[in-house]
Amino acid sequence: MNNINVNFQYFDGRRFHNVKSSKYLLPNDKQECDRLLLQHLMWQNSWNGNFSAPVKNILANKGSKVLDVGCGPGVWTLDMATNFPEVHFTGVDFAPIQPNENNPENVTFIQTNALEGLPFEDNTFDYVFQRFLNVGYPRDKWVFIINELVRVLKPGGYLEMMEDDIEPGNMGIMTNKLVTAMIDDLESNGLDTKICYKLQKNLEQNKMLKNICCEQRIIDSNTTDIGNMHITNCIEQFQGFKIKISKLQNIIDNEFDKILDAVYEEFIEFNSFTLTKRAYAQKIEEI
Ligand SMILES: C[S@@+](CC[C@H](N)C(=O)[O-])C[C@H]1O[C@@H](n2cnc3c(N)ncnc32)[C@H](O)[C@@H]1O
Repeated sequence: MNNINVNFQYFDGRRFHNVKSSKYLLPNDKQECDRLLLQHLMWQNSWNGNFSAPVKNILANKGSKVLDVGCGPGVWTLDMATNFPEVHFTGVDFAPIQPNENNPENVTFIQTNALEGLPFEDNTFDYVFQRFLNVGYPRDKWVFIINELVRVLKPGGYLEMMEDDIEPGNMGIMTNKLVTAMIDDLESNGLDTKICYKLQKNLEQNKMLKNICCEQRIIDSNTTDIGNMHITNCIEQFQGFKIKISKLQNIIDNEFDKILDAVYEEFIEFNSFTLTKRAYAQKIEEI
């Protein structure tokens, strides 16, 4: 460790959260926030929008309330808040990495650890959204989290979750080696790297939900326009795991960068792809 303060720890020039109880491994510095913006734009293009749940009526209603859990730098929250100025958006994250200047008036950011429960009353929000927490929550906490998301959702409101499979499809040899090391480490830390395939089942266990749907999209590396964004996003994500993987595999600094150059070439050669799932459901009216 190079440095520590209340909110952050610094390792080898990258900034990380400082929440002792969390296994979340990705950095949260400018480089990572830039990646999250790129990732937001890429999936927005692929999915043809920021959400899949049938929430157009909710978003057209003045005074509706939307919650984004694990909002990161708030790329989804801020984009949505700009597009739906009559709706109030709340973004929560345990890392204080959201912009605090020039935000739209209909946005509030709150620093909180979702694993300790959400700091909201029951039935508060019309629409609850959560995305890319597969490397944030331990495997055995997903049901707790979903029950929390449903608790703060109003009857008739919608919950939507989106996750990716962090193991790309069609991998070359170097990519396979790197991804296997990364996944082994994440799984041994109690995280569920395949949670995207279990979203629907996890929603089904909550008896307050109905009309459960699940959809998927894939971006491959040769897709026009966004193929390059996809490769850059994956390489940047691997960069985020660099310190951990290098240590585990005894890889020295510039060797890791050479591996990433080879991975870049393999993504093009094998047309490697990433899969995402969006699962959404409606909360039943009170019994
Ligand atoms: C991969 S980023 C995704 C950010 C955002 N959802 C997006 O799509 O751009 C995951 C975020 O979850 C946050 N996070 C991880 N574990 C958390 C927890 N237990 N409570 C609150 N936030 C958490 C991290 O700080 C990080 O900002």
